Amino acid sequence: MITSSVKVCPSTDLVDGGLARKLPVRHGGETTTAFFVRYQGRAYGYLNRCPHMGSQLDWEGHVFTRAGDQLMCARHGATFKPDTGECTGGPCQPSKLSALKVTEADQSIFWWPEGKTEPA
Ligand code: FES
Repeated sequence: MITSSVKVCPSTDLVDGGLARKLPVRHGGETTTAFFVRYQGRAYGYLNRCPHMGSQLDWEGHVFTRAGDQLMCARHGATFKPDTGECTGGPCQPSKLSALKVTEADQSIFWWPEGKTEPA
């Protein structure tokens, strides 16, 4: 069981509605990635797996819609609330992204692994 945090990046790397930072992770025995974003000033992290078909959401780190108010899967356009991961439109309904525990301290973003998702 992992009880320590993983430093994701400096706080300044996450800009509201901007590019996601990605980390390699293991989830249920598979190697994949997690992504971390900032929305309305807060940092959030999710397993990078769309509930529609399991694809990674991002396209080269882009996960926000043009308006910056939703996360969007690059494959078929499903949209999600950035603060909860809840699906708001497209082929993902009803479902949500797998949220990761994220904190921000000392001008850095930290991920606290728990459950089936762990650092790769
Ligand atoms: S895989 Fe994401 S919307 Fe289809």
